[in-house]
Amino acid sequence: MIDNGPGVPDSIKDRIFFPLVSGRDGGSGLGLTLAQTFVQQHHGLIECDSQPGQTDFKLLIPLP
Ligand SMILES: Nc1ncnc2c1ncn2[C@@H]1O[C@H](COP(=O)(O)OP(=O)(O)OP(=O)(O)O)[C@@H](O)[C@H]1O
Ligand SMILES: [Mg+2]
Repeated sequence: MIDNGPGVPDSIKDRIFFPLVSGRDGGSGLGLTLAQTFVQQHHGLIECDSQPGQTDFKLLIPLP
């Protein structure tokens, strides 16, 4: 998934998959934690490549 928003803030870049870490007003900080949990249940991983104007989250899931 690619978006053209402001990018992940540098201050939390190494922690965005941890629960309750949010850079957004009113964000619960649960979205990426849950997404990562579900993807890991399928032995996959999520990659994040983010800069201002282009943020790319890739979901990698192995074929059975
Ligand atoms: N596409 C994105 N672009 C920029 N920053 C992002 C993006 N996705 C996540 N982030 C950053 O990572 C933080 C953690 O994301 P996460 O989805 O876990 O929580 P959240 O979006 O704050 O709350 P919610 O539980 O409602 O999803 C966000 O608050 C935001 O700062
Ligand atoms: Mg979210």
